[in-house]
Amino acid sequence: MHKDIDRILFGEDELRTAVAEVGKRISADYAGKNPLLVGILKGSVVFMADLMRAVDCGCSIDFMVAKSYGNAAVSSGNVKILKDLDTDITGRDVIIVEDILDTARTLTAVKNYLLSKSPASVKICALLDKVTAEKAGDAKADYKCFDVGNEFVVGYGLDYAERYRELPYIGVLRHEVYSK
Ligand code: PRP
Repeated sequence: MHKDIDRILFGEDELRTAVAEVGKRISADYAGKNPLLVGILKGSVVFMADLMRAVDCGCSIDFMVAKSYGNAAVSSGNVKILKDLDTDITGRDVIIVEDILDTARTLTAVKNYLLSKSPASVKICALLDKVTAEKAGDAKADYKCFDVGNEFVVGYGLDYAERYRELPYIGVLRHEVYSK
């Protein structure tokens, strides 16, 4: 285990099993639909890479970079799209793939933005749902792997100051690392 990690929350086997289960549900729900998986960079990359291989109904992928601003008032106006989709999503079934749903500000804004592009549907697939977080937006995970509490989690795509994304597990970062 990395020296900056206090404990492992979800190990490689648990992650593999949870992603396989979500992939199976998506495959059943989207049979014959060729959904577009939209990863929100950068936190979603590892989850996206595993999830797309667990979806066997056929799918396409695209990525966005979005930063959200503001607090209580959440609308498509609060998100700044730094990288937009390359794909025309008119009439498409879209699944947003995200590493963590925290305040839900980012995903609420991204979902509203995508809904304005006349897709057939937009759903959210989140690896983690921080259930203890105060939700500023109303976006909810239609598919998710795990609930987490208030711990500072890193690994499997999630970072602290752009570090630890490469860890193959999700761990709790030692307090002294981010309180320095
Ligand atoms: C994180 C995460 C989500 C967002 C969740 O992204 O990947 O996009 O924050 O927070 P919210 O629910 O409170 O909006 P971050 O801005 O840290 O970028 P990253 O994906 O590049 O790490």
